[in-house]
Amino acid sequence: MNQAQQVQEFWDRRPCNIMHSPKILGTREYFDEVEARRYMVEPHIPLFAEFDRWRGKKVLEVGCGIGTDSIRFAHAGAALTAVDLSPRSLEIARQRFEIHGLKANLYCGSAEHLSSLVPVERFDLIYSFGVIHHTHHPEKVLAELKKYCGPATELRIMLYSKWSWKVFWIIAKYGKGAFWRADELVRTYSEAQTGCPVTFYYSRRNVRRLMKDFDVLRISKNYIFSYKISKYTKYEYEREWYFRWMPKLLFDWLQHHLGWHLLIVAKPKTLR
Ligand SMILES: C[S@@+](CC[C@H](N)C(=O)[O-])C[C@H]1O[C@@H](n2cnc3c(N)ncnc32)[C@H](O)[C@@H]1O
Repeated sequence: MNQAQQVQEFWDRRPCNIMHSPKILGTREYFDEVEARRYMVEPHIPLFAEFDRWRGKKVLEVGCGIGTDSIRFAHAGAALTAVDLSPRSLEIARQRFEIHGLKANLYCGSAEHLSSLVPVERFDLIYSFGVIHHTHHPEKVLAELKKYCGPATELRIMLYSKWSWKVFWIIAKYGKGAFWRADELVRTYSEAQTGCPVTFYYSRRNVRRLMKDFDVLRISKNYIFSYKISKYTKYEYEREWYFRWMPKLLFDWLQHHLGWHLLIVAKPKTLR
């Protein structure tokens, strides 16, 4: 199995957020619950994506997974093109679009070779949430994305944050403090299913280096998962005691300084 096949196999085995509802997979109720849970637990996503802003605009989504954000872009009236490496995830995304009676151009393949997959044209927004850090060559993806940029194209990208509560927590819980094993530990425990083949994580400086051909306009941090995992997997929402007693202002401050999600807004530097 080559590198891309390993990544594909991982996400096919358990597409992202697929367990967000106990309802029958592929039904309207299932998709509604997946969406409700996602934005309840990660309320910063709609704020970051600003779905309604893209009405009548062309949006390219890289790594759409089962299409939770995709359907929001389409509902808002954006003309959506989306790509994902995992055929199983994409099949579920297709089902979702059918159920909602909405249209999108969906492609299956690696964003590392985007231009051999998706016809090159200019998009108003290139959106990618939690994807580029899961591919072996993120710099190739960024080089591909540049081909789809015009002067006014905006990129909104989420990458995992190095200096984050989650990284410290993974090292403490699974590595018993062995910070020198951080790369391997993060890769193993970053996702709901263990053993992700690739997970990179970035400091702000790393992001600027990776996105050297873009003007990075804004990088903010958000998201600390505060629920007890044993309850969360049973669709019960009880926060860990230390988060329960933490004043909201302090929790928000922590999320903005040690959040797991680096929310990046960028524009292309030069035109092709
Ligand atoms: C953590 S999930 C995020 C999915 C979706 N953006 C979301 O937020 O629900 C990562 C997704 O990236 C996709 N992916 C990983 N490497 C990829 C690549 N090289 N090209 C396209 N998609 C990729 C996976 O198949 C998976 O669906």
